[in-house]
Amino acid sequence: MELDYRNAGLVLAHAKGSTSGRIGWESPSNIAIIKYWGKYGQQLPKNPSLSFTLSNSVTRTWIVYSPKEEGKGSGQINLKLYFEDELNLNFGGRVEKFFLGLLDIFPFLGELDLEVRTSNTFPHSSGIASSASGMSALAMGLCTLEQELFGTLADESTFLRKASYVARLGSGSACRSVFPGLVVWGDQSEVSGSSDLFALPLASDRIDPVFYTFHDDILIVSKGEKKVSSSVGHGLMDGNRYAENRYAEAREHFSQLLACLESGDVDGFGKIAEAEALSLHALMMTSQPPFILMEPASLAIIQQVQAYRERTGLPVYFTLDAGPNIHLLYPDAIAAEVAVWLDEVLVPHVGKLRIIKDGVGLGPKKMI
Ligand code: PMV
Repeated sequence: MELDYRNAGLVLAHAKGSTSGRIGWESPSNIAIIKYWGKYGQQLPKNPSLSFTLSNSVTRTWIVYSPKEEGKGSGQINLKLYFEDELNLNFGGRVEKFFLGLLDIFPFLGELDLEVRTSNTFPHSSGIASSASGMSALAMGLCTLEQELFGTLADESTFLRKASYVARLGSGSACRSVFPGLVVWGDQSEVSGSSDLFALPLASDRIDPVFYTFHDDILIVSKGEKKVSSSVGHGLMDGNRYAENRYAEAREHFSQLLACLESGDVDGFGKIAEAEALSLHALMMTSQPPFILMEPASLAIIQQVQAYRERTGLPVYFTLDAGPNIHLLYPDAIAAEVAVWLDEVLVPHVGKLRIIKDGVGLGPKKMI
């Protein structure tokens, strides 16, 4: 694991490009099929994870920059953050802290006046991982800024690896959002080049095309704030008596999932996806203190999914993040049938406006 991005030479005195301008990236959220839950060191995962990068649930972030006024210290971050066009001190403080931690990697951040303007295409607190889309959009922006100032990240794969590494420091799962399609994060012997430090896309020749057609309909059971933050949740794994078994299970699931992806075994894929979601929730229930993150409606929807599958034999599966909302996963070939069932059976549980239609996406896009 040797990768050291610290670079004291990246200061404005060495800049080749203009020291003021603006950079914009749109970056998606992702949904983990094999879950990352439990970490060590600096946001490093205790087990490898695998996710679908989403398409419609994105964060759009502009970074506006200019040299700091004379006399303002270079060891500090001078940043204003606007969320949905309004100054947001809470988010601003979090991003400022993130940037402060990046001063060894991007020393020029301490020499700039920064304005960050950001918005999401999905409702805030909808349970969609806005930290994954938000942190990956920022990381893409910072790497573009480095490239524009110093010309040091012209090579695409070097750029993306660094963006993924930086996104990970903001929020672990964000490192997977830098890439399109199906993405792996964490050292795993069956995926060459995989690392705990950054994510990488799973090679397309290991993925049956059916998996690129997958829908993810997100059923918003509750819009409330998370009962437990991810960082507290990861921390609780340290005292969880099932933790070591869980890490072993995740590795086994990962390996089995690779075989399903390669052979086009949609049913095998779905069984693993559901087992992973339930394990994640079981871990929360067995933490000290315990958390029950599902709501009665989450359970009702899960039971409906199981009954529908039994009745029709159609490959519809669920997964959940660390919250009550249900992600329905199914291939495009059955989208018409699922839409009818969704309207008739599931909408009464959540309401029409609380379903976000998404699916496997193409990764971040630069805005101009
Ligand atoms: O990136 P974090 O620290 O918010 O952790 C995310 C953890 C899960 O969303 C529950 C699972 C995952 O792998 O995305």
